[in-house]
Amino acid sequence: MRLKAFAFDAYGTLFDVFSVGALCEQLFLHHGVMVAQLWRAKQLQYSLLRSLMGRHRNFWQLTEDGLVYACKSLGLELTRHRQQQLMDAYLTLDTFPDVSPGLETLKQQGLRLAILSNGEPDMLRAAAQHAGILPLLDEVISAEEVGTFKPSPRVYELASTRMSLAAEEIGFVSANSWDIAGAGSAGLTTFWVQRAGTETGEELGFPANHVVRAITDFSRWSG
Ligand code: LAC
Repeated sequence: MRLKAFAFDAYGTLFDVFSVGALCEQLFLHHGVMVAQLWRAKQLQYSLLRSLMGRHRNFWQLTEDGLVYACKSLGLELTRHRQQQLMDAYLTLDTFPDVSPGLETLKQQGLRLAILSNGEPDMLRAAAQHAGILPLLDEVISAEEVGTFKPSPRVYELASTRMSLAAEEIGFVSANSWDIAGAGSAGLTTFWVQRAGTETGEELGFPANHVVRAITDFSRWSG
């Protein structure tokens, strides 16, 4: 079936979550990489744990909780000012270089474009605005609308509902391997962006339908 729309994961796919590393290094000399990695890992882990616990908190709050945990566990002092600076940095994350040209090409081909992310709506809009891609997006779809997180099928189903399209008419794009498995399990056509080219697939079933190296590699599927 011909694809009518692409839905993109946000963090790690459009926005480089590790671009906070420079500020982390400035604030916590020699620990910047560790803080950035642990922060991201805990953010994701808390989304899964809270979903299982039935204790939802939005992704902005989880991101802050992950930061607090990362600093505590590394014995680093997170002052209020540092916390504010690092959380603000999440609203102005770098965008991968293939994102704007890739989205522009797809848009010119008449495809509808969306973000489908665990992110809380305001944080997603702020990052997309900062990246200059907001005008290219038809929808910004947040897991907040169903009060749980990917990889719950309820979140992936939002893409069809919000875009009034069948699941297989939507290409779902993510650089996160677990997200590809989740979207595939929910019936979407999946495109795994492997920017390094050495990423390992998950042992979860539902391997990617397509593997690309960049968002600029999509034109051959859209026409
Ligand atoms: C997203 C994260 C979890 O949904 O990568 O954007």
